[in-house]
Amino acid sequence: MNTKGSPTEASHLNIQPKILYYGMPVILATTLNEDGTTNISPLSSSWALGRYLVLGMGFGGQGIDNLQRTPELVVNVPDAAMWQQVEKLGPLTGKHPVPDYKAQMGYRYEPDKFTAAGLTPVASLSVKPQRIAECPLQIECTAKKITFPDYAPMFAIVETEALQIHALPDIVKKTGSDHIDPSRWNPLIYNFRHYFGLGDRLGNNYRAEI
Ligand SMILES: Cc1cc2nc3c(=O)[nH]c(=O)nc-3n(C[C@H](O)[C@H](O)[C@H](O)COP(=O)(O)O)c2cc1C
Repeated sequence: MNTKGSPTEASHLNIQPKILYYGMPVILATTLNEDGTTNISPLSSSWALGRYLVLGMGFGGQGIDNLQRTPELVVNVPDAAMWQQVEKLGPLTGKHPVPDYKAQMGYRYEPDKFTAAGLTPVASLSVKPQRIAECPLQIECTAKKITFPDYAPMFAIVETEALQIHALPDIVKKTGSDHIDPSRWNPLIYNFRHYFGLGDRLGNNYRAEI
């Protein structure tokens, strides 16, 4: 039931935005290049269900090429303080030559994205691509299935399974615990192409560890 000031059927605009990034965490997916080096692809299309992560990746980037060749990756999750390093990666692709459509969007080839963004590579335990030391959360994954939907063949849906999860002690509840402390974890949020951190805690789910 509507009360004064609450939305009504007529209160919303019907709009056509170019993108629908309605506020998702940024991830930095590291994948293995053909020459054995590691590429970094900033992504915001991801969701998790249990130990399975699903990513949305555009066809024509180096990350999806790498995954088709070597189905291993690390989902590195930056915190809000890393937004400028993430944005340094923004106009870069590890794909050479740069596809025309990407060149028109202002992308340029960069084979060493770690150096370009001031990030530090660290070896993974179970997969070949390196992790990004500065990211407080690093999830080593295997890609179980890659599909190109017939309704949108320019996008790949990458289904992955987490193999190893690394967390900085600062964001873990207490030594020996497996719980992330949400009051100390501040993911970087991509909100219609603008970077945000989190605001204040509003409450908790009835199943939250307290
Ligand atoms: C914050 C941010 C979020 C992005 N999210 C996505 C995404 O979810 N899926 C995608 O395909 N590209 C996304 N992009 C664009 C890719 O990063 C871009 O295609 C880049 O070329 C990938 O690098 P690669 O070609 O070396 O794999 C995003 C870029 C930024 C900066």
